[in-house]
Amino acid sequence: MCGINGSEDAGVYKLNDSTALIFTLDFFTPIVDSPYHFGKIAAANSLSDIYAMGGKPLIALNILCIPSNISPVAVEEILKGGLEKVKEAGAFLLGGHSLQDKEPKYGLAVVGASKPEDIKRNNSAKEGDLLYLTKPLGVGILTTALKRKKLKEDDLKEVIEGMEKLNNISAELALKFNADALTDVTGFGLIGHLSEMLREDLGVSIFFSKIPFYENSLKFAKEYVFPGGAYSNQKYYENILKAEGNFEDEKVLALFSPETSGGLLVAISEEKKDFFEEEAKKKNQDVFLIGKFFKGEGIVLKD
Ligand code: CO
Ligand code: CO
Repeated sequence: MCGINGSEDAGVYKLNDSTALIFTLDFFTPIVDSPYHFGKIAAANSLSDIYAMGGKPLIALNILCIPSNISPVAVEEILKGGLEKVKEAGAFLLGGHSLQDKEPKYGLAVVGASKPEDIKRNNSAKEGDLLYLTKPLGVGILTTALKRKKLKEDDLKEVIEGMEKLNNISAELALKFNADALTDVTGFGLIGHLSEMLREDLGVSIFFSKIPFYENSLKFAKEYVFPGGAYSNQKYYENILKAEGNFEDEKVLALFSPETSGGLLVAISEEKKDFFEEEAKKKNQDVFLIGKFFKGEGIVLKD
C-alpha cells in the first residue's frame, strides 16, 4: 500500500482484507547525555511512524551501535529506556542487533498493524480542513544549546518528557475522529513534514502566533543556536513557504529546524473541531490548532 515512492512515514503491506502491516526503522546518535533518557527518546521516535500511519505497534527489534569504550551500564540503560517505551506502547521487544561503531546509535525497527481502511496518508487532507499539532517545537534548538553548554540537561526536563511521550493518544484521537491526513514532525522540521501534506491543488495557511514552542527555544533562536539541519532544511524547502507580513529571520528558521520525536500533524474537518478538542482535553492530550488547508499552493505563513 505504501512503498519507497512517495513520502509516507512507514511502509505498508496489505496482508489481507482485515490487516495491513506497517513497517518502519529509525535510529540516531544521542541527543541527551543520560543513556536511559536517550533510549526512551529513540524508542518513542521510532514508534511514532507507526502511529503516524494510523497503526498500533505490535513488535520491535533493537538496533544498537556501541563504541568499544562505552560502559556496559550505559548500554544497559539505553536498552532499558527503549524497552520501557515498547512496553508502554503495548508492543513486544523480540530481539535486535548490535555492532561496534565510533559513535553510539540506537533505535528500533517496528512492525505495527491497522485495518487497511484505517491507514492514514500524509497527503489526503481536504480543502477547509483544520491543521493540529500535538507537541511543541524547538527540540533541535534546545538540544543544540545543550551541546554548546548554554543549558544543562536539568533545564531540559520538559523537553525530554515531551520527546519521550508516545504519540499513541494523539493517534487514537486522529482515528476516532477519522482525520483526513496524518504525519509526524521529525528531522525535516515543521515545514518539511507539512510540505508532505500538500498537493498541487492543496495548500495550507499556518499562524505563527498559534504555533507552540518549548520554553526558551525562541530565545536561543534569537541567538542563532540552530542545528545544522535547520539551514539545510530551509535551503531545501524554502520555496514552498510564503510569508505574509514581516517575520524575523530566526523565527522563520525555527520552523525549518529539525525535531526529534515530535508531535503528530492532524488534518481534520472543521465541523469536528469542538468534539475533537473536548475529547483531547479529556484524554489530557495537547492539540494545538495551527493552520487551515485551502485550495491553492504552498505554505502561507501568517501572524
Ligand atoms: Co514520520
Ligand atoms: Co522515520
